Amino acid sequence: MQSSETPITKIAILISGRGSNMLALAEAVRDGRVPNAQVALVVSDKTDAAGLERARKQGLKTIAIPRLGQTRQEHEREIVSALREHEIDLVCLAGYMRLLSEYFVEAFRRRILNIHPSLLPSFPGLDAHRQTLEHGVKWSGCTVHFVDHTLDGGAIIAQRIVPVLDDDSEETLAARILEQEHLLYPEAVALIVRGNYEVVGRRVLTGKES
Ligand code: GRF
Repeated sequence: MQSSETPITKIAILISGRGSNMLALAEAVRDGRVPNAQVALVVSDKTDAAGLERARKQGLKTIAIPRLGQTRQEHEREIVSALREHEIDLVCLAGYMRLLSEYFVEAFRRRILNIHPSLLPSFPGLDAHRQTLEHGVKWSGCTVHFVDHTLDGGAIIAQRIVPVLDDDSEETLAARILEQEHLLYPEAVALIVRGNYEVVGRRVLTGKES
C-alpha cells in the first residue's frame, strides 16, 4: 500500500512508435516494481504511433503532439507545457525519435531518462543494432541514461549486456536486447524514483559495492 506521506512521482512517457518499453514501464508501475509512481501521461509526436492505441487500451492518458508546421522550439514548448499541465515529475523517452534541445533538457533538468539499445558510449544514434553488427563487437546490450542535449550522451544510470552471436541478424539481436530493455528500464526508473543515487561528474553512483 502507498503511504499517504510518500509523494507520488508522476511519470510521462514519450514515444514515436510501437511503445513496447512504454508498456513494460507502465506494467512495472502498476505492479509496484516502480514504487510510489504513476504513469500520468503518454505523449507521441506521431499521431499514428502504434503505442498510442496500446497505451489507451491500458487505460493510460495519451496525447499526440505532432510537429506539423512548427519550428522545433514551438513543438518542444507545446510538449513541455503539456508536461507541466499534468504536473509531470519524470520524463521517460521510450523510442522517442527526436533529439531534445537545451530548452527541453533544462525545463526538466536531470528528470529526463532515455533507453538506448547498445552499450553506450558505443553506437549512439540510429541503427544501433546495425552499427553493433558491422563493428563486430562480441557483447552488446542496452543503456538507460539521463538525457542532455547531446545524442545519447548523458550520464549512464544502468546497463544490461547480451552476447552477439555469429548468426545474428539485426532483428535477432534487437529482439535479444529488447527483452533486457523491458527489465532494465523499470529497474532504472525505480532507482531514480527512490532517489538512492548521487551524480558525481558523469558517474551515477548507487551505493553498489563490488
Ligand atoms: C528501443 O529499442 C529503444 O531502446 C530505442 O527505440 C526502441 C523503441 O522500441 N530507443 P519500443 O517503441 O519501446 O518498442
